This record gives sequence, structure tokens and C-alpha cells, in this order.
Amino acid sequence: MRVLVIILVMMVRILPAPVEVQERGGSFRYDPSKVEFRLDPKAKIPSEGYTLDITRTRVRAVASTPAGLFYAAKTLEQIADQAGNDAIPCMKITDYPRYSWRGFHVDPCRHFQSVEDLKSMIDIMAKYKINTFHWHLTDDQGWRIEIKKYPRLTSIGAWRTEWDGGVHGGYYSQEEIKDIVAYAAERFVTVVPEIEMPGHAVAAVRAYPELSCTGEPVGSFSTWGSPDIVMCPGKETMFEFLDDVIAEVSALFPGEYIHIGGDECKKTRWEKCPACQARIKAEGLERTADATPEERLQSYAVKRMEGILAKYGKKLIGWDEILEGGLSPNATVMSWRGEKGGIAAAEQGHDVIMCPQKDGMYLDHYQGDPKIEPETISGDNTLEKVYSYNPSIPVKGLQGNLWSEYIYSEAQRQYMFYPRAFAIAEIAWSLPQNKDFEAFCTAVDRACQDLDARGVNYHIPMPEQPGGSYDHVAFLDKATLEFSTTRPMRMVYTLDGSEPTATSATYEKPLEFSKDATLKIACVTSFGKLGKVRTITVEKQGPKPALAVEAGEHGLNLSTTYGFFLNWEDIPATAFWTAPFAVEGLKEIPKLEPTHYNMMGLNFYAAEATGYVNIPKDGVYVFSTVFDQLWIDGEKLIDNGAEVKKHSRHDSSVALAKGLHPIKVRFLSNVQGGWTTARNRGEVLYRRVEEKDFHTLRTDRLYRPL
Ligand code: ACM
Ligand code: ZN
Repeated sequence: MRVLVIILVMMVRILPAPVEVQERGGSFRYDPSKVEFRLDPKAKIPSEGYTLDITRTRVRAVASTPAGLFYAAKTLEQIADQAGNDAIPCMKITDYPRYSWRGFHVDPCRHFQSVEDLKSMIDIMAKYKINTFHWHLTDDQGWRIEIKKYPRLTSIGAWRTEWDGGVHGGYYSQEEIKDIVAYAAERFVTVVPEIEMPGHAVAAVRAYPELSCTGEPVGSFSTWGSPDIVMCPGKETMFEFLDDVIAEVSALFPGEYIHIGGDECKKTRWEKCPACQARIKAEGLERTADATPEERLQSYAVKRMEGILAKYGKKLIGWDEILEGGLSPNATVMSWRGEKGGIAAAEQGHDVIMCPQKDGMYLDHYQGDPKIEPETISGDNTLEKVYSYNPSIPVKGLQGNLWSEYIYSEAQRQYMFYPRAFAIAEIAWSLPQNKDFEAFCTAVDRACQDLDARGVNYHIPMPEQPGGSYDHVAFLDKATLEFSTTRPMRMVYTLDGSEPTATSATYEKPLEFSKDATLKIACVTSFGKLGKVRTITVEKQGPKPALAVEAGEHGLNLSTTYGFFLNWEDIPATAFWTAPFAVEGLKEIPKLEPTHYNMMGLNFYAAEATGYVNIPKDGVYVFSTVFDQLWIDGEKLIDNGAEVKKHSRHDSSVALAKGLHPIKVRFLSNVQGGWTTARNRGEVLYRRVEEKDFHTLRTDRLYRPL
């Protein structure tokens, strides 16, 4: 019996890991009358900390703050869930947080999130002792908070016309905001609203054009990026507007902070704006060794914001750009472009929240192989990388940020958020010496079962191939397929075309093929749930013979037709195509027309390039591209369909003999899901299957027909 109890204790893994767990032996049979929660403000327990003492006869939680008791209850809930109410293992837990700011951030501006979905996130994060919710409420593509004095912010600024003709938008009424704030407060989560200034403010400028330097009308903004249309700190109008907005915002959010953004503000218009230049002159904002006059103008504007916030009893927090041109006296800095800004701010005696994007804190970045994961902005923040982050200096806290440019549904938002948000919760609460990735992963599996019970989506890794995954594997004599996962997880597969299940063959070592096959492979969680099944066609090929032709000059022949098409098949048969003209290479194809920050009123087109590609030697080649289609030897090798084409997600392979092969590349200049294909590099990448790295298909391998 004793042995059994010890096993039970060891099986309990609380998320986030507590500071100290002492096993007592024995178990407690759950009885609410024997559970005591004692609030003792004089107890020597750090704020938000608690002790939880479980003996055979009773449970006693003690904390010096109500939040501490709340967290004790959350811990007890996890223990009871894992052990069962009849055998809660006896133990004494001493626990307190590493950081006082344990945050998560969401962006309902790029893609709106409902109150209900937001409450679900707050509820789940509070369960894992997250205490701060950073709500990014305004941006170029949408203004999401009702401001009674400026109704056009939401009647106009909350809605945008999408490229497919649809309307996207939404906003939170002040009543809904109060509801969310109260819901969060019941769970000891403080809501920090972000009102972006002076950049990322097109939605506000659309509603009130007088806020910008030129005052000219601005259309719907439905692409991603940092436009040069920003607020004008040369005019008093901007400060009067922001003062009015902050007056309403500060009344809605009882927390001590308001986030003023401050990031990625393009200052090109300020350089030409008489009001901005007059302000620079009047305030003596000359160029210094480390700041331009316009950077100092932004710093001037942020300092005035600090004054406005102080008037309403609020403290200022902003992105690390607020360091440029000089930090305002009491600002807290949120360091996102690495830790550098945070370190500089700390050296000046300021509070710092660390959320360096490339160190795992940006949850909008890829969490697995970009070749098969859904489109994201970029990056490589696997669960393990998020978990491994440890700030290099003492800071006030940590935060995970979830921007939503490429998040087209709530299920997708959840997929990006969980389970990486659990890693944020653990590293923000637990001491680094208690970190253990394998143990954390077992806790994640439990937390994911809870997500299933709530109907919430999450990421389960996919089996990934080294060097980049692809689903069409050509081979000459034999193929060896190797797979790995981004966190420890069993892989199951079938070779008979049937869908794998948790009891299918387990992948143990690389799979060898000498004839055609269909491999279906997926990861399976410890509780038997399968992730997305990958279907991989393995095909024996003879190398496609080269053409016995004379090639012309280097380059390709290009033909184009104007129009906005999302699918190649949508181009009408009657479309007028230009006669083929010579281009030097692939790079030119997406760059035939000027581009603009939001692409409004510009020319979109379809282009087809044809010619020959010179293959260096016999072998199997893997190709990769974000062009719409790639054809080799008259066969379509890659078809990216109507997907968002920022990263290649349909790599493929083919066996080719040394020499010239017909190549055809098709490109649609369009905007899909906010991504402008004209911003693509115009590349086809290739590698021999045994090589690790891709090469760019350059002009010296491309020929125009004679
Ligand atoms: C940011 O990601 N622009 C703060
Ligand atoms: Zn201006």
C-alpha cells in the first residue's frame, strides 16, 4: 500500500511546478468539511504564494493574499484531478511565483476574438497561475474598444473590407469590457489594455483623418506590415484625442498600467510634416549621437503620454522602441526585439517585462516544421524553446505574445496558443532549478486532456523529416524516411492506406522503401489522441530524361495578363495574355508592378514563365517554392492552390537526369489572407535529396528556348 501511495505522489505533476513538494505518505479522502483555506496577511508567505498541507485527516491552505489562496485551490484541484478524490496523496507544498508579471497577450485587431473565446483563455490561463492579460485593442486593421466620445473609432475603425470582398471586424462595447475585466479579476488576472500610438494607428486615422500629418482620407487597411500612415505629434489634436481616449480607458481598467504601444512607428511622414518639424524646433529635439530628431519627437510624445496617464492615476508601459530618443522617467519596458532593450532599460533603473520574439516568447511564430505547419508570420519557437527561455537579467516578469495576422479562426488561435502558453505559465512561475522538460511534457498532456474536455484546440506535433518535410518522396533504388517530433511523442503509421490509430505500428527507426508505397504517419499523445495524419506518397522513379535540345540565352520567357485571381483556374479563357517577353530570372516575376503598403488601387496580374532548367547531375531533387505552381517536364510538381503563400508548404521531389528539362512557373500577384504575394522573393529552391540545404535556382541554370 505504501509503495502504491509513493507512486501516486510521483505521478502527480502540478503545472506550473511548485517551489517545493514534500511527500508525506498516505492519502486523504476528499471531504470538503476537512479542507481549510486560511487567509493570514501576517504569514511569512510571499504575495501570491501559499502553503498547502495535505495530511490523512485534513487539508490546510495558508496564504497572505487572496490570490495565494486561489492558487492553492488551483493546485489542489490538479492534485485531486490526477489522483482521484479518494486518494489525494499527502504532501506539503510550499509555493510562490518567480515573477510578479506572468502575462499573455492577444491581438483581436488583425482577427477579432469573441468575448466568450477570450473568457475561455482567461479561465484556462488563470488555472495555471497566469496573472496578467495584455489586451492589444487598437492597430492598423481594427480599433476594438468603444470610446463614447469618438464613435467613428468603432463605426468605421472596427471594420475593414477584405480582399475577397467580405467585411471583417468587431469591437468590444464598454459593457463587454467591464464584463471581461470583472471575469478576469475573479480569477486574479489583471487586464492591461493597449492603446497604440503613434504608429499602428491606421484604424484611428481612418475614423479621424485629422490625427495624421496630412489629414487626407485613408481607405480600409487589409494587409499586414507597418504603414507610414501614423499619428501626428506635431499637432495638439493627437494629444487631445489620446487624453480623451485614456480618460475613458482608465475608467474601464482598474489595473495600474496602460500600454501605449510605441512600436514600429515609421517616421518618414514626420520628416516632411510642417507641424512635426515645427514641434521638433520648438522643443529643441535636435539630432543627437544616438537619435534622429524624429526619434526624439516620438520620445517627446511618449513622455507626454506618461503625463496624461499619470493624470488618470495610471503607469506607462510600452514596447522597447520607447527607449529610442530617451525613455520617459517612469516607463516600464516590454522587450520584444530580443533582450537588448530590456537590458538597457534595467540599466537605467526601469522595470522590464521580457518577451523576446526569437527566444520563444512570440506564440505567433512556427512551433514545428514550416513546411507542414499552417502558415504563420515566421520564426521557430517550439514548445521546448519556449520552455527553455530564461531571462538573462532580473526582471519584473515574462509574457507570451500571440499576434493574429495569420490566425484565421479561433481554432487556429488556440492551436498556436496551447500548449506553448503552458510553457509561459511554468517559466513565469516556477524556479529555473525545478525545470524539467520531460516532466513538463507529462503535465502538458494532462492539461491537453482538460482542453479536450473544454472543446479547445491545441497543437499536437506532426512527424517531421530532417531538412524539411515533404509529402511526395521520389526515389531511384531505395528511400529511407526518417522522422522526428518537436516534443517527446510516439509516432504511429500504416503502409496499407488505412488511417493510423493509437494501436498502429509504432515508428522506432527510419523506414526503408524499395517499391511504391503510401505511408500514413501521425503522433499520438500519451492519452491516445492522434495529431494530424500525414500522407506521404513514396514513388520509385526512373530519372526523367533530359531533352536533346539546344538552349538559347539564360533567362525565361514570360507572359502576363492583368486581373486579381486567387486560383490559376479562375483566369478566364478569354483573358488577354501578352506575347512572351524575356526575363533574366525568377526574381523579376513578382516585381512587375509597383507595390504599396496596402496595395489599394494597384495592378494585380497572373504570370507564366517558361524555359529550360539545367539539372547538374542525375538524381532525386526536392523542390520548394511559394510561386503558385511549378511544373517540370510538363508535370505539375507543386501547386500551392489558393493558400496564403508566404512560406512553401508543398515541397515535392522528382528524379531527373542531368541536362535540360522544360520548366514552367506560374505566379498570381494577389493578396490572400492579408499577405501580398508581390512581397515574395520570387524563388524556386532545390536540393539533391541527400543534401541538407536548398540552393536557389539562379539564372545560370535557366535558359530560354531558341
Ligand atoms: C511588436 O511585435 N511589434 C511589438
Ligand atoms: Zn506631423
